[in-house]
Amino acid sequence: MIKKAVYPGSFDPITNGHVDIIQRGLEIFDRILIAVLENPKKRSLFSTKERVNMIQEIFSENENIEVKSFHGLLVDFAKTNDSKMIIRGLRAISDFEYEFQMALMNRKLDPQIETLFMMPSLNYSFLSSRLVKEVSMLGGCLKGLVPGKVENKLQQKFQTATKTNLK
Ligand code: PNS
Repeated sequence: MIKKAVYPGSFDPITNGHVDIIQRGLEIFDRILIAVLENPKKRSLFSTKERVNMIQEIFSENENIEVKSFHGLLVDFAKTNDSKMIIRGLRAISDFEYEFQMALMNRKLDPQIETLFMMPSLNYSFLSSRLVKEVSMLGGCLKGLVPGKVENKLQQKFQTATKTNLK
């Protein structure tokens, strides 16, 4: 039996913390399906297509990784994609309550689906997409915090934004 897990998130953008969890996940599962949330109500810096493309580029050499966008219920997406396992990264105590609520709600919605929490490397336990965007916007260095491709895309985004604002 092929063990396949879904790793969902907003990934706006993907960070090295996410990459770390995916690499750890591949030690347990044969395949990981990265599920990028498509949420028209939530304003994201990168479009769904941009987020999916960035992740696909990062893992282009790894045939055990698949990337798809999704909307609607996560448990439905997992079921449609033949997976009974959801992976979530757990950084600090502050993540716990939200993650606990989501995991139990998902279990209520579909008791067949299990959530597995994994801790990232200590190096990334302070890292979030939100902080990455803020640091990039203010011109700070993101070396070692996001994949190189993401760092370039962030720089492009904020350069374009600055030019547009100056017009
Ligand atoms: O990276 P994020 O923003 O913390 O990821 C949140 C995500 C995508 C896992 C969560 O918002 C989600 O699962 N959304 C799908 C909607 C859903 O299934 N809601 C009910 C379960 S709580």
